[in-house]
Amino acid sequence: MTDRLYIFDTTLRDGEQSPGASMNTAEKLRLAVQLEKLGVDIIEAGFPAASEGDFDAVAQIAGKLKRATVAGLCRTAKDDIDKAWGAVQHAAKPRIHTFIATSDIHMKYKLNMSREQVVTTAVEAVKYAKAFTDNVEFSAEDGSRSDRDFLCKVFAAAIEAGATTVNLPDTVGYAIPEEFAELAKYIMTHTPNIDKAVLSVHCHNDLGLATANTLAAISAGARQAEVTINGIGERAGNTSLEEVIMAIQTRQNFLPLTTNINAKHIYPSSRLVSLITGIMVQPNKAIVGANAFAHEAGIHQDGVLKNPMTYEIMSPETIGLNTNKLVLGKHSGRHALRSHLKEMGYDLSDDELQIVFKQFKALADKKKHVMDEDLEALVTEGLLRTADIFKLQYLHVTCGTTVLPMASVQMSINDRPLKDAGYGNGPIDAAFNTIAKMTNTDSELLRFTVSALTGGTDAQGEVTVRLKENGLIALGKGADADVVTASAKAYVNGLNRLEYLKTHPRTAAQNL
Ligand code: KIV
Ligand code: ZN
Repeated sequence: MTDRLYIFDTTLRDGEQSPGASMNTAEKLRLAVQLEKLGVDIIEAGFPAASEGDFDAVAQIAGKLKRATVAGLCRTAKDDIDKAWGAVQHAAKPRIHTFIATSDIHMKYKLNMSREQVVTTAVEAVKYAKAFTDNVEFSAEDGSRSDRDFLCKVFAAAIEAGATTVNLPDTVGYAIPEEFAELAKYIMTHTPNIDKAVLSVHCHNDLGLATANTLAAISAGARQAEVTINGIGERAGNTSLEEVIMAIQTRQNFLPLTTNINAKHIYPSSRLVSLITGIMVQPNKAIVGANAFAHEAGIHQDGVLKNPMTYEIMSPETIGLNTNKLVLGKHSGRHALRSHLKEMGYDLSDDELQIVFKQFKALADKKKHVMDEDLEALVTEGLLRTADIFKLQYLHVTCGTTVLPMASVQMSINDRPLKDAGYGNGPIDAAFNTIAKMTNTDSELLRFTVSALTGGTDAQGEVTVRLKENGLIALGKGADADVVTASAKAYVNGLNRLEYLKTHPRTAAQNL
């Protein structure tokens, strides 16, 4: 059996199913480029039948990427498969990924189909997809709760019909590692033609076991791991890419596998996903959390100073974490900014550089040391949100112990300038109330968090808000040296995301 493990990243599809994590097309494109740079083999770019926006984003990603395979997800219906192919057809390496549920509970209550009907439908779908491309993946949704002999039967039929990858999902995050490894082994030994396909696994994290289950299945013979950056995804999320990769790299004695991933791009990719989706990484998250390499106990600090390997099983540098390396300052010019951004993976056009340079200069006036994290925030805010309909242009707040907090705000709404002022019980409340009035929105603020983007008292504040309006939920993120401005930026970003969701409704199909 080969020791090559294929990494299939579904941050743009399953990851986008995290509540509030919708991304616009520019953001998806930027992330896809980063995933390719990270060395991901297959990028599941979206679910083209779900909406026109999804179709468009997948098509643009397919047209842009050079090395990675671009997959489009679809159900087994011909119309879905047509849309998936329509979106990925111009990729250098396209893949159609079709799925149908195989567990008794899903077949009975969701599909209302018999086992035989499911096998026939799966076979027809794979054959139909195969007429478009040789690269077809078939997934048995809720595979971990399916009858194992039936699962082998469906996989055998799908492979016979032309599937080159068969995927075993633990859709509801129910599996236990030992059990899941046994199931993978059973499939490897009881599916007669399994040697003609790659066995893939796709785990959800409802019991916190997604990575453990994935690694267990890999040990049993699976050779494709479906993962997301930071483990984002439906409900409790998916297996996280960084955990699988670093487990393999750190424990080669147990997992003697190779991948195409360049681990140095893990941390920048994690930051980018967090910046784009607004979903913060929990501080104690393995590999990419803020505390993952922090040593608090004196004995540990002492040990690490004497020899890092006493308490560090991997070094932060291996994942591209260069502890707030000083990069640029107020005397840095356009050329230095461009080449540093290029090193970080942002290849900007002249017009884009102009926008970011202006913001960089403004920031460098307020903050002596401009770090990679600051630049990322500038690029994300300046370039990836150009389609926003609400733009914050000016904010002035008055507050203190003797005045009623007041905010004066200037915005452009659909390119129309607007000014207003309003009160609140504090400067942030005053800013939010005024912005809500000007945008004519009525969202509920579900969560508000603030953290420092880098170290130092002059660090930019990074604010995340979670907003709800008419049942839609969106996250917003903003960074600024002034925390009230960062809050207003985050709020406006959240409102823009809500507007995007209003105009790009998720179909039932997208909520798998
Ligand atoms: O969790 C799941 O079963 C899925 C499939 C579509 C692969 O996301
Ligand atoms: Zn899933």
